[in-house]
Amino acid sequence: MPEVFFPRLQKCGVPVKPELPPRELLPRHLAIIMDGNGRWAVKRGLPRVVGHRAGVETLREIVKACLEWGIEILTVYAFSTENWKRPREEVDTLMELLVEYLQKEADELHRQGVKIGAIGRLYELPEKAQRELMRAKELTARNRKLLLNLALNYGGRAELVDACCAVVRDVLRGKLRVEDIDERVLNSYLYTAGLPDPDLLIRTAGEMRFSNFLLWQSAYTELWVTPVLWPDFRREDLLAALHDYARRERRFGGIK
Ligand code: IPE
Ligand code: IPE
Ligand code: MG
Repeated sequence: MPEVFFPRLQKCGVPVKPELPPRELLPRHLAIIMDGNGRWAVKRGLPRVVGHRAGVETLREIVKACLEWGIEILTVYAFSTENWKRPREEVDTLMELLVEYLQKEADELHRQGVKIGAIGRLYELPEKAQRELMRAKELTARNRKLLLNLALNYGGRAELVDACCAVVRDVLRGKLRVEDIDERVLNSYLYTAGLPDPDLLIRTAGEMRFSNFLLWQSAYTELWVTPVLWPDFRREDLLAALHDYARRERRFGGIK
């Protein structure tokens, strides 16, 4: 690992060596709330959308780091069910950036062994975005190195509502018995069915909240919040988070 990683790690106050923590101490599933694009741009006197564009570059770098470091699943919050409240031009740009990202990156991600997935109410996205997503998902469906899971028009509450509706439908159809519903069954109705819960949730730009992200799945997820804005987030910041995570004791309500 290059020495250039040192100063930033020290600034984060994490007494780390520049090497990656041992593999068994790395998160299997990493989730990121990529926040702060707007503030990054405004600080520079630029329109917010410039920050979103810069944020896409960061995503590229972080996906690469996850691939190199053997993270199995990376779930990134790209657009929430509440983000539709933003000005029309900003929403349009975000959707265009999604299409552009998929068009430009899908082949390269495929070559690197990345499987692209998506969670959220995808059918409410613009048709073009849905088409590109479908194409990218099909292209990369058999890849196993890293699952890049894009949370798009995602809301933890919407996900629970959708799961409840699906459960009720299956009960009415006689496919599921009420007395058989437990946490495992409900989990299998979520967008994230089949995936392990996130081990580590990183939020950039300092806000200490979930903003409707993975509410059910984060019950025992380790949190790591950094003031660094998403466009400024680098692999050295991710490394600092991984080191902090590696030192934690996860108890899941039990005792050591
Ligand atoms: C995160 O950055 C990206 C999306 C929510 C799509 P923001 O746009 O929320 O940036 P801030 O929080 O306003 O700085
Ligand atoms: C969360 O960030 C959503 C994404 C990063 C996509 P927001 O910027 O929308 O969250 P709030 O409004 O600060 O809670
Ligand atoms: Mg924000």
